[in-house]
Amino acid sequence: MSTGSLTPDDDYQVIVGDAALELSQFPDAFFQSCITSPPYWGVRDYGIQGQIGAEGSLGDYIDHLRMVFHEIRRVLRDDGTLWLNIGDTYTSGNRTWRAPDRKNPARAMKYRPPTPVGLKPKDLVGVPWRLAFSLQEDGWYLRSDIIWYKPNVRPESVKDRPTQSHEYVFMLSKSDRYYYNHKAGMEPTTDRNALRHGRTLWTIPTKPNRSSHFAMFPPSLVKRCIDLGSQPGDRIIDPFCGSGTVGLVCLETNRRFAGIEIKPEYAALALSRTPWAGGQPAH
Ligand SMILES: C[S@@+](CC[C@H](N)C(=O)[O-])C[C@H]1O[C@@H](n2cnc3c(N)ncnc32)[C@H](O)[C@@H]1O
Repeated sequence: MSTGSLTPDDDYQVIVGDAALELSQFPDAFFQSCITSPPYWGVRDYGIQGQIGAEGSLGDYIDHLRMVFHEIRRVLRDDGTLWLNIGDTYTSGNRTWRAPDRKNPARAMKYRPPTPVGLKPKDLVGVPWRLAFSLQEDGWYLRSDIIWYKPNVRPESVKDRPTQSHEYVFMLSKSDRYYYNHKAGMEPTTDRNALRHGRTLWTIPTKPNRSSHFAMFPPSLVKRCIDLGSQPGDRIIDPFCGSGTVGLVCLETNRRFAGIEIKPEYAALALSRTPWAGGQPAH
């Protein structure tokens, strides 16, 4: 695990710290691609000072993420891409807390954000699109809104709307021309010999996990982003590394990886999932 003593050149590293701060140690145009899932707004309490997602206002949350992705844009090569997974949430109806969930303790909230101005209790907030528009304003090219459809989600207890069964993976680029391996996105058709151009609906089940991190990426989702946006040997960054799924898939696909994670326990978990499992970076 690194606390800043490694050089940015290391082939695999997990840095403990705040995303925006730690990104500043990397040079311009260093990474080919960023694949990440930031904390969602008001959904989980990671219980650590400086965490993103616990902002009192939606505007502050969006601004906070825009700042992180501004740095990501700087450290991406000009032909680089950002693959940003983000889900939506409903207004809290001005409830100020959420009861503990036995299976998922991080879902117990010490606070619930207030209903944003202009919205009503029960409104879907539209977080993904608010963030996407903010990133567009900041200079990113918004190239695709991929729907990650989760066929195996558990039904929600609400009876007045459908169960949410998708999240977004926004594909954004730093420039109007960028590396994109369209062949990697080809999909089989009903005619077994034919392939068609990749579509924006990705059906990928979530995997139950027994680890102590509750918002893990399915590796196959990460692999699709890696295959489409990079080549072997390229550098990939995940500024919200969590349990390190992006890093693991980078190892499997021969990409170099840097992850940033604010919570030391999760950074340790990320390193414990690597084949060397001793916490030593690979060289
Ligand atoms: C949605 S999870 C990422 C999960 C990850 N994709 C995985 O597969 O495990 C978001 C992570 O961001 C971390 N985080 C929250 N605020 C942060 C910050 N300011 N800087 C870096 N990491 C932060 C949280 O601790 C959490 O582990």
